[in-house]
Amino acid sequence: MCGIVGITVKEKNKLKDKSLGKTLASLLKMLEYRGYDSVGIAVISDGNIIIRKARGKIDEVSSKVIFSEIDGLTGIGHTRWATHGPPSDENAHPHTDCKGTLALVHNGIIKNFYIIKKDLQKKGHSFKSETDTEVMAHLIEDKLYKSNSKVFLETLKEALDEIEGSYAFAIIYKNEPNRIYFAKKLSPLIIGVGKDVNLVASDIPAVLSYTNHIIPLRDGEYGWITPNEIVIKYGDEIVDFTSRIKTIDWNVENVSKAGYPHFMLKEIYEQPLSLRETFFGLQSDPNIERITERLVDSEKIYITGAGTSFHAGLVFRYFLSKLGGRSSFPFISSEYSQVSEEIGEKDILVAISQSGETIDTLTAVRSFKINGSGIVSISNVLESAIPRESNYAIYMRAGPEIGVAATKTYLTQVLTLTYIAIQYAHIAGRLTDSEYRDHLNILSKASEITESSIRISEPLVKMYAKDLKSSKSMYILGRGLGSILALEAALKVKEIDYIHAEAYPAGESKHGPIALVEPGFPVFFIFTLNHRKELIGNIKEMRSREGIIYVSTPTADMIRENTLDSRILNIASYHSEILEPYAHIPAYQLLSYYISVENGHDPDKPRNLAKTVTVE
Ligand code: F6R
Repeated sequence: MCGIVGITVKEKNKLKDKSLGKTLASLLKMLEYRGYDSVGIAVISDGNIIIRKARGKIDEVSSKVIFSEIDGLTGIGHTRWATHGPPSDENAHPHTDCKGTLALVHNGIIKNFYIIKKDLQKKGHSFKSETDTEVMAHLIEDKLYKSNSKVFLETLKEALDEIEGSYAFAIIYKNEPNRIYFAKKLSPLIIGVGKDVNLVASDIPAVLSYTNHIIPLRDGEYGWITPNEIVIKYGDEIVDFTSRIKTIDWNVENVSKAGYPHFMLKEIYEQPLSLRETFFGLQSDPNIERITERLVDSEKIYITGAGTSFHAGLVFRYFLSKLGGRSSFPFISSEYSQVSEEIGEKDILVAISQSGETIDTLTAVRSFKINGSGIVSISNVLESAIPRESNYAIYMRAGPEIGVAATKTYLTQVLTLTYIAIQYAHIAGRLTDSEYRDHLNILSKASEITESSIRISEPLVKMYAKDLKSSKSMYILGRGLGSILALEAALKVKEIDYIHAEAYPAGESKHGPIALVEPGFPVFFIFTLNHRKELIGNIKEMRSREGIIYVSTPTADMIRENTLDSRILNIASYHSEILEPYAHIPAYQLLSYYISVENGHDPDKPRNLAKTVTVE
């Protein structure tokens, strides 16, 4: 996830800061939550494009490359969260073509960038960065100079037709000094509509100091803005957007949360986008095949992580076994000493950490390395300690997560690991080519299943949160994959709501835990596709002790027929086990969020917890 912005003003006195460079830096500050490993701006000044950019946070870069001394009336800016190419001065946006006639900023992933880049290099284009974005600058240049008669907008459309993936672009072109071109597909982009000033941005906070009138762009739309004009096109048609202009009434306090009361809720809502970006990123990651082959060839596969990341690791173990027929050995990273004696050179450790800095996981990685094991890391932060110390690193594209509770990083970890399990099963010969494609196609639906589960479950969750806010204890149960998802659901309730929530496989009740169940004791069931008959039995068993039963399920009728007075937590429908995490987990994330709000706690900063644990 990155943040992009562009502003074009009629006269200098329309700027709220002393210079255009300073203005772009302040607008980017409002998008810093979307990424903060490198920053850059490009402006048109006296008929030339000036670019200043560097690795680092906005304030550091701003004073290092002195944004404030750059002036002009039209400019673009970018704050980066690295995906293709590590954070560096060269990989920071904006990017430009060979002759420096245009500059562009991008949020998204160009899946087919590698093929386009090779082709452009053969034609003589020279690249300065390792990013996917830079190909777009050269692709437009290539097309522009093939035919002198072409207008920029037509060329832009031709280039957009050639790239695959997701994008929000803002582009300036030397020959048209008061215009910003834009295009959107799958990544967010809005237009800020002002008077003698117009803007484009990834998100509303970046435009609010100039206007509270916005147009949210739709996929496939592209066009341009000047200080007084807005042109939006879809295909060859001009779009009439007048009825789409919205007025925003956010205040300064909630602006960085994009109108949400808390980061946690915002991040729960960001999951569909993060999942889509992660899926596209995996499809365009040239390392995945090599990593999978290394896993197939390894003698033993160990899996480690802490907290939520460990729970994602258990989902990996499940699918690696179900799809790939391969056993693996998960362990909680702080317990590495239980297994590190057994390690040999042919083994491989899959280390999962969203921050890439958790000391327990880093220590496990180091101990495995000493014993000769290969390391594959899964992280959300490029160039963090764990990926740096690994032989192979895979990155999720969840974007920065600010709320202490892991939400979007969990589901993107699960998606990444399930993707690898599918690759494994294919390379190991357990899935035919067509089964492999079918499985990937199913996994590509993770984003929409998450989106509809959030929508369907939220009203019910709000209601149940009122009943549960005074509970001292609850069980969250499932079987098979459901028992693994239950662990993550229970962790959310513990850390955000300070309620004792215990997860265990539902079949275990009779071996002890059911002794705690008395009238009114809440018991949740994650009602998965498999083991339905047994789950119904477990629900009845708990109901007969007068526990209050809640069931997350897309098939309410089946539960009602069999267990009468269960409280249904409706979620999205799905037809494959692969999609179960995305259907069930959002409901429990929302449940923990709303219980916390009901009790007047701050879900973003739960007591006694830190986002990244760097002490043993
Ligand atoms: C739970 C949570 C923690 C982390 C754990 C590992 O919501 O956030 O349990 O999952 O501290 O952190 P990372 O993934 O950064 O290694």
